Amino acid sequence: MNTGLYETIHRRRDVRAQFTGAPIPDETLQRILTAAHAAPSVGLSQPWDFILVRDPELRQEFHRHVERERDTFAATLDGAAAERFARIKIDGVRESTLSVVVTYDPQRGGPAVLGRHAIADAGLYSVCLAIQNLWLAATAEHLGVGWVSFYREPFLRDLLGIPATVRPVAWLCLGPVTHLEQTPDLERHGWRQRRPVSSAIHHDRWTTG
Ligand SMILES: Cc1cc2nc3c(=O)[nH]c(=O)nc-3n(C[C@H](O)[C@H](O)[C@H](O)COP(=O)(O)O)c2cc1C
Repeated sequence: MNTGLYETIHRRRDVRAQFTGAPIPDETLQRILTAAHAAPSVGLSQPWDFILVRDPELRQEFHRHVERERDTFAATLDGAAAERFARIKIDGVRESTLSVVVTYDPQRGGPAVLGRHAIADAGLYSVCLAIQNLWLAATAEHLGVGWVSFYREPFLRDLLGIPATVRPVAWLCLGPVTHLEQTPDLERHGWRQRRPVSSAIHHDRWTTG
């Protein structure tokens, strides 16, 4: 058993508030991106790309957009949920060292992508596996990652010049951190609790309750 892998999986956190902004050595970033690029993909399509966003102005503009989307979501809440959400930080776009925007190109490896004919989403699943590899590799390097999804895809496409046929899947904040929390932020803020693994396991057929 590789205990290091399990340790990394359980130490991984989504980071918003703990970024220091310190530089990431080029070799470290390369190792992390190479790990992401080693992910499995449907039909070996490797449909991902990684846009490294360092430009402070681009990040500031994206952050303003995230704030507007935060307001949009906040307007759907009331009472205790609104109060809880107001206390939750949802991104570290400006504080982290850099951002990695991960995209999905459904045309890569096409038109006959082996294994995708019945499930179009299999391409998207492949991109998510690359993201998870990146997240775990960064954790193994003692860096933090924060996934930001408070954005509209057309906005991000325009901001970074992403072609219309390519889909932005994630804006990831990446960089050194003061520490990784032991408990997810949303759990610490009373937004939602993790459920026990036993409640996610079914035997032979779907069971309810
Ligand atoms: C697809 C996806 C989108 C997410 N978007 C955001 C986001 O916009 N802002 C944020 O603060 N966290 C975001 N998260 C992080 C989750 O809130 C976090 O993973 C979850 O609360 C569990 O915490 P942990 O990752 O620290 O275990 C996202 C996570 C995923 C997988």
